[in-house]
Amino acid sequence: MRILSIFGTRPEAIKMAPLVRALEAEPTFESRVCVTGQHRQMLDQVLELFSIKVDHDLDIMQPGQDLFDVTSRVLLGLRKVMETEKPDMVLVQGDTTTCFAASLAAFYLHIPVGHIEAGLRTGDISAPFPEEGNRVMTSRLATIHFAPTEQARRNLLAEGVSPETIHVTGNTVIDALFMVRNLDTGKGSSHVFGSAEDIISQQKPYILITGHRRENFGQGFLNICRAIATLAAAHSSLNFIYPVHLNPNVQKPVFSVLGGHENVHLIAPLDYAPFVRAMGGALLILTDSGGVQEEAPSFGKPVLVTRETTERPEAVEAGTVLLVGTDTEKIVRETNRLLADQTQYRKMADQPNPYGDGTAAARIVAILAGL
Ligand code: UD1
Ligand code: UDP
Repeated sequence: MRILSIFGTRPEAIKMAPLVRALEAEPTFESRVCVTGQHRQMLDQVLELFSIKVDHDLDIMQPGQDLFDVTSRVLLGLRKVMETEKPDMVLVQGDTTTCFAASLAAFYLHIPVGHIEAGLRTGDISAPFPEEGNRVMTSRLATIHFAPTEQARRNLLAEGVSPETIHVTGNTVIDALFMVRNLDTGKGSSHVFGSAEDIISQQKPYILITGHRRENFGQGFLNICRAIATLAAAHSSLNFIYPVHLNPNVQKPVFSVLGGHENVHLIAPLDYAPFVRAMGGALLILTDSGGVQEEAPSFGKPVLVTRETTERPEAVEAGTVLLVGTDTEKIVRETNRLLADQTQYRKMADQPNPYGDGTAAARIVAILAGL
């Protein structure tokens, strides 16, 4: 069975890496990889870390690209790759525009689509944008759905997806996390933070921050940055470490509001292994990232999510994630509360991870082998 795995951004690469490795190890499969290059530097960091051999690279990224650029370039680029490879199945991951456009390309060529991390929903097509739309449309095109949780399976059933095509597997992000932890142990690495190393070595406790959601561009980002500035001024004993996403819509407000604050460290996106270590060492995490919401419970770290809704309700229900939105005052209030209230902090920190046990890739491969 020839399987063509297609991905293009940092989170897709992290979540597909364990699966690509598992497919390579199974003689039943001929595993092929096509990267769209929707991300460049942030994708290449992951390809290198997991030693992923790429068979096709569409290399589509342009600075400041919009959704039309990405969709059309992926779709057109994949026609040739799929016609050449003639895969028995295409695997896509998550909710990016690469994921949706690749599913559409496969659909046009009558190639079955396996969707990894299927069934996440906020129920609001405008948030996250365009990811909720991408997920819903990918589910319509997919032949087989690998849902990370029972809740995701129920979401798919509610949309009329046939039960026999849905498999609950856990999320491959936990597999990736375990792989990277082992990798770090193997290297015995202390040189893990790259440009952040000096900051960490100050031994000051720190809050880790990430953010990149399109629906937060503009006022939302300014509000979040102002909250961080207020917190940084009020807590000089803390560092605020912020690896800034390379999207210019993120870079601009972040550097203009937060540049020049002594205890706010704006650094380049971290390689995955150092970022995992940074999560492990943080006091708490402030983020709008999907992947980070799934990973952080493994470290017993409270996560404040700068979004109004989440497609990952499991961690909210477990109590480890709290939605704080993009209201400056609320972000400051909730962060201060966690910093001051040990009972509340422990309540959020001491929860099991609802997203998987590190065996999702093996489960997916076993299901594919049985088809
Ligand atoms: C994309 C995904 C989003 C995912 C996020 C993960 C879509 C529409 N969006 O958003 O779902 O959560 O990735 O990070 O699919 N850039 C670089 N180098 C990189 C990566 C990005 O310079 O390695 C800059 C480029 O100027 C690029 C811009 O960021 O044009 C935007 O990249 P894009 O993939 O379109 O959007 P993201 O916001 O990264
Ligand atoms: N991540 C990383 N380096 C960073 C920030 C995040 O490797 O500087 C990892 C993080 O651990 C997670 C993934 O990137 O696995 C999340 O990517 P992102 O937040 O860009 O996308 P999302 O998950 O929101 O789609």
